[in-house]
Amino acid sequence: MKIGIPCELDPNEKRVALTPKTTKRFIQLGYEVCVQSGAGLKSDISDQLYQEAGAQIVFSRKELFEASDIILKVLPPQPQEVIDYLPKHFGASYFFASENQSLLQDLAKTGCSYLAMDSIPRISRAQKMDVLSSMANISGYRAVIEGAGYFGRFLNGQITAAGKVEPAKVLVIGAGVAGLAAIGTAKNLGAIVRAFDTRKVVAEQIQSMGAQFLTVEIEEDGNTSSGYSKEMSPAFIAAEMALFKKQAQEVDIVICTALIPGRPAPKLWLKEAVDVMKSGSVIVDLAYSRGGNCELTEPGKVIQTSNGVTIVGLIDQMPQQASQLYSSNLTHLMDDMQKGGNGFNINLEDDVIKGSLLIEKGQIRWPLPQISVTSNKPQTSPSPTSDKKTNSHQKIETPKSFWQQTGLPALILFAILALVGYSAPDKFMSHFTVFILAIFIGWQLVWNVSHSLHTPLMSVTNAISGIIIIGGLLNMTSELNLQSALAFVAILVAAINIVGGFVVTHRMLKMFQKK
Ligand code: NAI
Repeated sequence: MKIGIPCELDPNEKRVALTPKTTKRFIQLGYEVCVQSGAGLKSDISDQLYQEAGAQIVFSRKELFEASDIILKVLPPQPQEVIDYLPKHFGASYFFASENQSLLQDLAKTGCSYLAMDSIPRISRAQKMDVLSSMANISGYRAVIEGAGYFGRFLNGQITAAGKVEPAKVLVIGAGVAGLAAIGTAKNLGAIVRAFDTRKVVAEQIQSMGAQFLTVEIEEDGNTSSGYSKEMSPAFIAAEMALFKKQAQEVDIVICTALIPGRPAPKLWLKEAVDVMKSGSVIVDLAYSRGGNCELTEPGKVIQTSNGVTIVGLIDQMPQQASQLYSSNLTHLMDDMQKGGNGFNINLEDDVIKGSLLIEKGQIRWPLPQISVTSNKPQTSPSPTSDKKTNSHQKIETPKSFWQQTGLPALILFAILALVGYSAPDKFMSHFTVFILAIFIGWQLVWNVSHSLHTPLMSVTNAISGIIIIGGLLNMTSELNLQSALAFVAILVAAINIVGGFVVTHRMLKMFQKK
């Protein structure tokens, strides 16, 4: 199969879907690679670098499309590009299908298959292909760098011979991937960081990064089953804007990242908030591509208000880095699509493909089935980018009564215990009671621990596994009987748990080690 990389036609797009590093990776995976001359220039990648990595350079766009089976791009095809697609093609790029319905119809008419990188379900297995996360991470980082550049003062506090410098105060609105990257970067630069999000689940993440989580008095949670925020009630938005107006008088840099999939960005930082900001303050509005969170943002421009506030409506894409990460996401996708031994294959049984393939051989699959983030199974709730009307059909689970949750299992357990107690010998009963208690304590210890603490918990379970091994050794006999067999199994399982615990902990620690 031959992968073709055409030039991006949008003059503002600097990224490219392939780098020399990923060219080598594609070739290792068994693909041939063909690049249109000049495709990487805006990311500082010359044709020669592609050639050295093993790619073939072609000069005409038509030639590239005719020679290739798979077309990889960054942006959705522009209307004039649609005629280049042939029935044999499989294409992948960003698509933003909810906003590009006529493009979807036109592209389907060519008979090709097309996958939207922005619709790849955000399940754990697909994290390596998640372009939304890799790009949001870059923009969150870059927003702080841009903000610090326009701010023109230290971000950290300093005590110098000339006097004390106060640290800058940074407010991050929206703590998704971009917001968390911005919090981390601002914190590393020494600023005092505050953050606000409609999803209460992010409070812990914000605080663990050393930022302050701001709240409003209204009890409403934006979290949804898709992991994204819902549109908040007018009362909540009013309370949020009141909070922001108060914050506006104190903060130096505001990073806006609040988005709701498939909707224009909510207007949260109004003119009246900008008016009370200190001269020299900066607003970096990452939501500018969807109209911006700030009322005064001019998408694609950096402006200064009459009271000296800079509003940044455009940030650098960091194209070299962004192209590298984007194309790495693509290599993971292409790798997955040829697993199974039959070469490149569009497998609709695969949740990743099922949740992101927009066109299958000319057949439109929009709206895409939503894949549950938690269970990886398709859900009845709509795609995050499908329209608002369908949002009202979310499945509501009836909470189980106390009797169903606790009473019934306890009664069944009691009946079993009574039956065993009536018929079993005394010695067995005392062992059995200890066994039941051990299960109960283990359940309380492990099940009730927050997910974020599971790794340290795994280290602690080594101690429990150690006790099991000692117990197993004491029960080992020289004879080959049930007791020895059970002791052997206990020792084996506990040893696997200990070794596995060390391996996982070691891998987690390595992730946090500075290279
Ligand atoms: P996004 O870019 O669509 O949204 C940005 C943030 O804006 C969200 O945190 C949202 O809650 C917030 N927001 C919306 N309206 C707001 C308002 N009125 N005021 C303040 N904040 C508001 O989302 P992003 O960053 O792409 O991802 C959001 C979530 O998706 C993540 O936090 C996570 O739960 C999930 N995710 C899962 C991944 C996985 O692989 N399992 C990977 C990445 C994200």
